[in-house]
Amino acid sequence: MKTVRQKTAKQLEEYYSIESRLIYGKNVSQRWDFKRHVIPPISASTNFRFCSAEEGTAAFADFAQRAAGQDKKEFRYIYDRLDEPNKNLLEEHLAIADQGDIALVFSTGMAAISALLAVLLEEKPDHTKDELLVHMPVYGCTNDLLRKHIEARLRYPVRYADLSEPDGLERNLTPGTRVVYCETPANPTMKLVDIAALASVLKRENSRRAQPVLLVVDNTFASPFCQRPLTLGADFTCYSLTKSIGGFGTVMGGSVVTKKDHLLIAGKLIQHRKDTGGSLSPTNAWHILVYGISTLPLRMRQMQANARRIAKFLNGHPAVGLVSYPGLDSFPQLSTARKQMKDYNGTFAPGNMIYFEPDADTPGIRRSIATLWMDRIAKNAYTITLAVSLGQIRTLVEHPGGMTHAVLTDHDLKAGHIDPGGIRISVGIESCEDLVRDLTMALAT
Ligand SMILES: Cc1ncc(COP(=O)(O)O)c(C=O)c1O
Repeated sequence: MKTVRQKTAKQLEEYYSIESRLIYGKNVSQRWDFKRHVIPPISASTNFRFCSAEEGTAAFADFAQRAAGQDKKEFRYIYDRLDEPNKNLLEEHLAIADQGDIALVFSTGMAAISALLAVLLEEKPDHTKDELLVHMPVYGCTNDLLRKHIEARLRYPVRYADLSEPDGLERNLTPGTRVVYCETPANPTMKLVDIAALASVLKRENSRRAQPVLLVVDNTFASPFCQRPLTLGADFTCYSLTKSIGGFGTVMGGSVVTKKDHLLIAGKLIQHRKDTGGSLSPTNAWHILVYGISTLPLRMRQMQANARRIAKFLNGHPAVGLVSYPGLDSFPQLSTARKQMKDYNGTFAPGNMIYFEPDADTPGIRRSIATLWMDRIAKNAYTITLAVSLGQIRTLVEHPGGMTHAVLTDHDLKAGHIDPGGIRISVGIESCEDLVRDLTMALAT
């Protein structure tokens, strides 16, 4: 009988849950077999020794084959910017978390998103350029990447649309569309797209096209614990690992996850990462691997339980108007949320992110009230911090209109339904009573 260390990843997958595999990964990895260490050691060497000139040459040939889209099982490390054991182990764990086949990590979420769009969008021999179709709203820096780099500097056409109804996709596809990009839930408004419905429209469409339209989902807000877009038909997911996967607000990182069908594009990403240098540092990879991804389910369960209660509290508060949270019965896209936001056991998982607005008639008054509430939090709250970022064990609030999404034009803010008085809250793992106490103080009339 095989010992557990002799079991293949496939055999482990049959016996053990995703939650356990987020801790132990492949158990024995071809990327790095650290036999005697219980915890993978931190690799702190920028370069790797070859035992002969022949081996060095072979290592470079292997890398070139991977960058050309070949699935290489053997690994010979060369130089940290190309590959390194801590990042590779993290990539194996991320593929498990997202139920994908290939994960690639980057220095930040923005490095991952910009690398993916750079390799997907192409200029054709007749000089026409692939078109990108984007569901609004998106995170402020993603908006800037699209508006200032992809559109203005690189001159790729970008269409911005509302894809929350699948006919929005059918209406906005053009013969030039190559990529459909969305966040769901979207930062900050929590608006959803129905991933499976979009994927099925694209499947039909792609049967008529020489080059398929690819669906990219930024799944940072949900986290892979609450939603796995690749299982719903998306081609790629992107993450800011800085958020709930990293979990503690100590390191930055990003990733792209995909399926075996896109090995060739994964190869292009490996090449792009080598040449543009957006590689994740081994120490950051190690933190995310050892502390972050292994505790994701534990943290998300607590954050989500708190978020459900906080959303109800806000919804019942007389000074609050709109509350947008997929776990509320009043959430306009509740059926889509219930269909696609599920944890590893199949239970509805609406996540830890909430967007809300003060109850007032004009945007100006809503903005002043929101400012007053955030100032009170900054000065007097113990368990809530006024700061950007999200998905950490600490509860964070921020003001999208003046902070994370301040770069959006008035037109983009309106199109994305981001109110000047909107507040985003990322609920942490604190005692919920304490969170309610601090919110009650902040929202007092
Ligand atoms: C939805 C979303 N995607 C991507 C990013 C970018 O990630 P990073 O800050 O790690 O570059 C963020 C950052 O807030 C985000 O909220």
